[in-house]
Amino acid sequence: MAERALVLRTVGEMQALSDEWRCQGHRVGCVTTMGYLHEGHLSLVRRAGRDADRLVVTVFVNPTQFGPLEDFDRYPRDFEADRSRLEAIGVDAIFAPDVAEIYPEGFSTRVEVDGLTDRLCGASRPGHFGGVALVVTKLFNVVKPTFAVFGQKDAQQALVIRRLTKDLDFDVEILVSPSIRECDGLAKSSRNVYLTEVERRRSARLFHALQAGMSVFRRGEKRVDRVLEQVRADLSGSGEVEYAEAVDLETLRPVERIEEPTLLAVAVRFGGARLIDNLILRPPEAA
Ligand code: PAF
Repeated sequence: MAERALVLRTVGEMQALSDEWRCQGHRVGCVTTMGYLHEGHLSLVRRAGRDADRLVVTVFVNPTQFGPLEDFDRYPRDFEADRSRLEAIGVDAIFAPDVAEIYPEGFSTRVEVDGLTDRLCGASRPGHFGGVALVVTKLFNVVKPTFAVFGQKDAQQALVIRRLTKDLDFDVEILVSPSIRECDGLAKSSRNVYLTEVERRRSARLFHALQAGMSVFRRGEKRVDRVLEQVRADLSGSGEVEYAEAVDLETLRPVERIEEPTLLAVAVRFGGARLIDNLILRPPEAA
């Protein structure tokens, strides 16, 4: 039978446990999540488990990263299912605070990461990455991990977190783990539950479009406009394309030619769901 994980609801309890572990010389691994865990999250947890002596998963639907018209209220939640999945993997502790514990009365601090946050998803979700940066800063101060694992599917988020970790001198190593996909290529996401049957079939086009762009690049095409032409052609009729872009892997600035590792990224809206995905184009000479 799976071992029970400790469920901690307060900042004080979590900090005390982490202090104890670190004092005993343990490496504390952490995966931050908003719950409703799927195979994508669990692969991050397993990845963290390989390097951790003690493993913490945070489950917190963070209100500050949702816009006023976004899906905070209807974001899927199922704590008991999350808990049994995490216990089956052997997680030691789950930090699952309520909103008032993280943002008590009078809370008035912000964390902004300039530059990286107004491109790609940041352009259509103003304030989103500020909310992510704020909550991750808090979670790092509460969990005090030695390292934390984030998913490549949210490539921009991982970059923002790397930046803030460096800028604010957090003593936390950031690892990025590959995207996990359904059989037809759709990247696993908690928001996939919003898709209707027809949208679900069409949503596989995101990955196929990225792969088509990758094939053009692999045939020797370095011009971004040619690669994106193919990606957009493959996306047409799938959903409402918010962006299809090729950007520098470090700065997220658009590039014209693929001479350095480049992030090929798309965001497409399907009715109530907004899906994102990406691949990295690596020129052989930059590998
Ligand atoms: O990727 C997510 O689930 C969230 O953005 C995160 C990092 C847990 C912050 O709320």
